Amino acid sequence: MNIAVIGTGYVGLVTGTCLAETGNNVTCVDIVEEKVNKMKNGELPIYEPGLDILFHRNIEQGRIKFTTDLAEAIKDAVIIFLALPTPPGGDGKADLSYVLGAAKDIANLITDYKVIVTKSTVPVGTADKVRAAFEENTLVEVDVVSNPEFLREGVAVDDFMKPDRVVVGTRSDRAKKLMEELYAPYVRSGNPVIFMDERSSELTKYAANSFLATKITFMNEVANLCELVGADVDMVRRGVGADDRIGKRFLFPGIGYGGSCFPKDVQALALSSKEYDYDFKILDAVMEVNQSQKLKIVEKMMKYYNNDVKGKKFALWGLAFKPETDDIREAPALYIIDELTKAGAEIVAYDPEGMENVRKMKGDILAFADNAYEALEGADALIIATEWQAFRNPDFKQMEEKMASKVIFDGRNLYDLHKMIDLGYYYNSIGRATVN
Ligand code: UDX
Repeated sequence: MNIAVIGTGYVGLVTGTCLAETGNNVTCVDIVEEKVNKMKNGELPIYEPGLDILFHRNIEQGRIKFTTDLAEAIKDAVIIFLALPTPPGGDGKADLSYVLGAAKDIANLITDYKVIVTKSTVPVGTADKVRAAFEENTLVEVDVVSNPEFLREGVAVDDFMKPDRVVVGTRSDRAKKLMEELYAPYVRSGNPVIFMDERSSELTKYAANSFLATKITFMNEVANLCELVGADVDMVRRGVGADDRIGKRFLFPGIGYGGSCFPKDVQALALSSKEYDYDFKILDAVMEVNQSQKLKIVEKMMKYYNNDVKGKKFALWGLAFKPETDDIREAPALYIIDELTKAGAEIVAYDPEGMENVRKMKGDILAFADNAYEALEGADALIIATEWQAFRNPDFKQMEEKMASKVIFDGRNLYDLHKMIDLGYYYNSIGRATVN
């Protein structure tokens, strides 16, 4: 099938590349010429494991192309994906100007039937707005479909190629048939393509992300309680997660969820519910708890240092909001950096992928190390903010030699408590006993 993907951000690029991989002809459009030129030369603008191999293979095979020319991209396309940003506007609600602007531009160019698919996470009712944009600008028939993505950064290629489910919101049989055909190669294992109306599909995305964010937050509160009552959250997590109805995934406590989706989507669902005069109370609580959880480590450190960290030197392992990504959006590490440096502490950070992004944003308030051990040089404590695999089994002997004090504040529960007792560290983690 001939496909156009408008927007070559994270979602657009993964979608375009994975659609090309199953034999479709994909043209990706972006307004940023420099970015398009780079992609034409085989440069991938984002870090996503496994994507580069597919990206290069499909460029070589001529199945994926890049252009700034919208007209050229959509001319032969039967399905057009809108993978454009929907950032929170000043009022906290998703800003639809990119999506609706593109809809209008496309409407003014098309001469034959197209399926217009909104891939971006958009508030309920957006498909109707996109449809209206077409009706106002063209007489050509289009079907507007909602097809939210459920990609996790770091495993997005796998998530696209083998999705748990594909959700498609459309009431048109013609569009349904085309979408069914397009996704058939990805659901051969029997996972469902679930068809529904557009509004249900739009809400599914927000409900799924908000539910997951709530699940994590619930466990973060359980972890906080564990610390007070002397229970171990690792045990509680296992005991709870073994119930099939609850499931063991997304129960890992930590220093709060971050990233480009959960914070934005929980807020958007809470706000849009209010528009319908519905007070979605649980979401307000989730946001509030998550905000304080991001600062949990700082709170613990302040207590340990009697509210005085001035002149202290801290090593920080992990900047990205989660492993296997360079994405630092809403990363808990950023809040920790701000609070500790404000209080006069010095921070030397190391992250396998996230350092460049933090350097651009906060380069003047912290230092960076070339590797995990270099960051520990003379450190009064180590803070762990992201659970990169490389941090899971470090050389504790080397760490001890470098650090000024054997103190670790671990926001991701990477180490076994008994081991830390044996090694003689002060070790403070989440929802478990502090060892000394
Ligand atoms: C999420 C959704 O999983 C995905 O379906 C959606 O399309 C986009 O948002 P992503 O933001 O890439 O994906 O990351 P995810 O792996 O879901 O983690 C989100 C946040 O939750 C991270 O900050 C992570 O550290 C945190 N998390 C996750 C926990 O704190 N505990 C857990 O058990 C799981």
